[in-house]
Amino acid sequence: MRYKKENFFIEKVKASILAKKYSTPLYCYSYRKLNENINSFKRSFKSVNPLICFSVKSNANKLLLNEIRKLGLGADVVSIGELVRALKAGIKPNKIVFSGVGKTSKEINYAIQKKILLINAESKSEVLEIERLAKIKKRKVNIGIRLNPNTDAKTLSQISTGKKENKFGVSEKAFLDLIIYSKKSNFINLKCLSVHIGSQILNNKPYEKMLKVLEKIIHKSKFNFEYIDLGGGMGIDYDNNKKYLNLQKYSHQINEFLKKYKTKIIFEPGRAIIGNTGILISQIIYIKEGDNKNFIILDAAMNDLMRPALYNAKHRIIPLKKTNTKSNKIYEFVGPICESTDKFLTQKKFQKLKEKDFVAICDVGAYGMSLSSNYNLRPKATEILIKNSKIQIIYKRQNLKDLI
Ligand code: LLP
Repeated sequence: MRYKKENFFIEKVKASILAKKYSTPLYCYSYRKLNENINSFKRSFKSVNPLICFSVKSNANKLLLNEIRKLGLGADVVSIGELVRALKAGIKPNKIVFSGVGKTSKEINYAIQKKILLINAESKSEVLEIERLAKIKKRKVNIGIRLNPNTDAKTLSQISTGKKENKFGVSEKAFLDLIIYSKKSNFINLKCLSVHIGSQILNNKPYEKMLKVLEKIIHKSKFNFEYIDLGGGMGIDYDNNKKYLNLQKYSHQINEFLKKYKTKIIFEPGRAIIGNTGILISQIIYIKEGDNKNFIILDAAMNDLMRPALYNAKHRIIPLKKTNTKSNKIYEFVGPICESTDKFLTQKKFQKLKEKDFVAICDVGAYGMSLSSNYNLRPKATEILIKNSKIQIIYKRQNLKDLI
């Protein structure tokens, strides 16, 4: 995805043509970028030889999942909806792990029935419930237990999950007790220790600390885990300042860990696989001139892309057609929704914009469409996938009928 002269292109397709043809707001993904991300992720962890389970919550599009499956990945799911969708996309049950603090009996039953690789339990009550349901089915079910390693991921507090004040996983003491309990059970087969300390992690230190905690607890437990599921969380370069997680270094840290404990590693990356594959194209509806700033009112809103409103997350905005102009007004890019947090970015020294111009909001492949809603009774946007010069509609915009 880059400019050719003044026009922005996704692979071989001029983005402004897509905007006109499919209307806006419009999610566009690049297949090539997806392919590159998966290959470079695999390359970085080649010596670890992990099972990579794509975190479906980051992007649950059916056709994208299908492509991701074809590129060799499994799935990390957190609801029966995601599980059914992953299976429908052809992902084999033995490559699916199920996480989440509140799996219902219905969800657990379905996962047992489908014989997925692991149900990663997050509390004693859940372990007991899995055991109860397995007993009814006269089955021995493979589980993992998620440890809360009390490790600070040094990321946004809203997407931090590995500290003891977070609802995720169990404490070290509860973890050790659950190992003893599981060993005696005829219906659960404890196979995995899982962790996930947070998302958009850009520094290797938290992972290093997390691995130290794991070493300590495995040593204490004297238990042989067939799998260690390290979760996801690998951050991407939203600011385009070449600051991202050093995957090779992380791989090296894991290899040091594996010298002490022979086990199979599982990863659950979402953002690192899909985040930078997508842009959201939007058209300027109006420009409202303020005293010291201009409001650029887009046709995309917080229902299409929630991250800025929810986490104050920054996504770069770029024009689809570059000009050699510069505005001396501050631009505030906002959506049309009746909420003051419905704004994307405040930008100084942007090129001069006019009504009907197109812009792209960058790096929205992860937690973009998957977090979208019908708030203000707005339809969900169209999604398209570009492969070279081939365009495929992978989700069609809801129409008024769907909504009413
Ligand atoms: N595994 C587990 C157990 C998780 O909870 C998550 C994300 C992942 C894997 C994938 O994490 P990733 O590799 O994508 O960082 N909506 C937020 C992110 C929430 C992440 C929740 N859990 C955002 O837009 O930044």
